[in-house]
Amino acid sequence: MPKSTDYVAKIPDDTGHIAYTSEEDAVWADLYAQQLPRIREHASKPYLDGFDRVAMAADRVPQCPEISDRLRTLTGWQVAPVPALIGFQQFFSMLAEKTFPAASFIRSREHFDYIEEPDIFHEIFGHTPLLTDARFAGFSQAIGTAGTQAVKDDYAWLIRLYWFTIEFGLLREGDSVKTLGSGLASSPTEILHATSGVPELRPFDVIDILRTPYRIDIPQPVYFVLDDLDQLFAAADRDLLGDIQTARALGLHAPKYPPKAA
Ligand SMILES: [Fe+2]
Repeated sequence: MPKSTDYVAKIPDDTGHIAYTSEEDAVWADLYAQQLPRIREHASKPYLDGFDRVAMAADRVPQCPEISDRLRTLTGWQVAPVPALIGFQQFFSMLAEKTFPAASFIRSREHFDYIEEPDIFHEIFGHTPLLTDARFAGFSQAIGTAGTQAVKDDYAWLIRLYWFTIEFGLLREGDSVKTLGSGLASSPTEILHATSGVPELRPFDVIDILRTPYRIDIPQPVYFVLDDLDQLFAAADRDLLGDIQTARALGLHAPKYPPKAA
């Protein structure tokens, strides 16, 4: 997660409604139109099935209450607007309570194709389709629950598991590798990069993932591929804090990316 942002949270009224400007709605509509053919081609079936179930608006920024109404009937989750950046403790607590924290602002056209921090397009378009799937929702909650029981030094380890699955996970479908994670579904460029055959693809393995460092500001050089969403369902039952201790004892892998320029 980035540590700072120039974007300001949009505050909902008493009914949970956020007033977006016509330009903000137009940015949503253009992002949606650009990304739709890319997810249809490259995203996995669980994501696409969820995308159809959520049935979000195409021509305006969707409102969290309307998305929550759909999620609640399917998996008991909801989406709640939060400030642009929140701390790990609040983040994990909300996931544990089946509440997805959504940054409520939408990117400006200057950041149309790439934005480092999550915006409402990433949160709704990227995340909410998979929260309609009980297996994915259960895994998301398990990470949150582990986070609420973790000590501060564990956060960076646990968030790597979140990063390489919920944000940037891939899923094997027959002979193809499709995108699962929200960071891919909502990124016009990284969805193509991840499925290009260029990055290194590794099999899903919790300990291996916990030991893999990442940078948030570049396309990932390595992705982890699930064979089946049931692997995530099984991972939700693991002792994730015990896994962190195991990973810590083994140590981090050497980074596959260049060091960040000062
Ligand atoms: Fe995200």
